[in-house]
Amino acid sequence: MNPETPDIAAQPAGAPRLRRKDLVGIAELSSEEITLILDTAVAMKEVSSRAIKKVPALRGKTVVNLFFEPSTRTRTSFEIAEKRLSADTLNIAASTSSVVKGETLADTVANIEAMAPDLLVVRHSSSGTCHFLSRICRAGVINAGDGMHEHPTQALLDAFTMRERKGRLAGLKVAIVGDLLHSRVVRSNVQLLTKMGAEVWVCGPPTLVPAGFDRTGARVTYSVEEAVRDADVVMMLRIQLERMLGGFFPSLREYFEVFGMTVERVALARPDVLIMHPGPMNRGVEIASDVADGPYSVILDQVSNGVAVRMAVLYLLAGGAEHETAA
Ligand code: CP
Repeated sequence: MNPETPDIAAQPAGAPRLRRKDLVGIAELSSEEITLILDTAVAMKEVSSRAIKKVPALRGKTVVNLFFEPSTRTRTSFEIAEKRLSADTLNIAASTSSVVKGETLADTVANIEAMAPDLLVVRHSSSGTCHFLSRICRAGVINAGDGMHEHPTQALLDAFTMRERKGRLAGLKVAIVGDLLHSRVVRSNVQLLTKMGAEVWVCGPPTLVPAGFDRTGARVTYSVEEAVRDADVVMMLRIQLERMLGGFFPSLREYFEVFGMTVERVALARPDVLIMHPGPMNRGVEIASDVADGPYSVILDQVSNGVAVRMAVLYLLAGGAEHETAA
């Protein structure tokens, strides 16, 4: 273990932690806080390599996972992270809650809060839900993806994976290609990577690039070849057909021809390029199978690292004696 990373088993007084109650978005994090989370995740990853994958850091804490949208990776890795930290956890899905009987979100959460949880992990289809809940809840709120707004723990695990492989974030050329319009992943990633000094290029069909996206600090191009050329990292984004009402491009076949990540396009990037995808993938639409499963792919490493990063976030928010308020 890196001697500068916290002793998560001992949880000493004065151990580093985030001086905030909630993690709603990357927008609110400083580069120092991002570095603290990534450094803490290094120690958490070591826990997952042990024969007994458990530490008592969150013993006595209760975490409720509230998922109002489908999820495989995020929900599962939060639950595993909570169990590895010895928290008491329970999962509530929208389809099995009284939301289907017409109860409001605020009433649902007020009733859950009456049972004294320490943290709520929330995924919801509406942008701003986690910000709203963070204002009305005593418990800390962790955003597990809200509409088209942010997915902060995804960006943190992506950054962890890049830093682990490349040794740094500053100066990397990161190309993010796909459905930018509907992606909370790109919004969190652009903010995190630009704060940490990376050069971010974004690319997609003009219909799927939000107006004004160049003001985020990312460079916008409609040429996938320009985005990928000499890139250290290529991150492909899913075409979110479930959020599309109209025709944003002629057909999936033509989308793949113009924007899909192929072995030929990967060859334009640096020889040690990392191929990333937050999942779930549409194989043959935004990424060819021989790229997704190929030698440069770190897509499953992202999933593994998601557990360590979520352990770090849970620990840094709830591991201290009591919450301190962000400045
Ligand atoms: N990356 C991600 O959020 O995947 P899930 O929707 O499966 O959680």
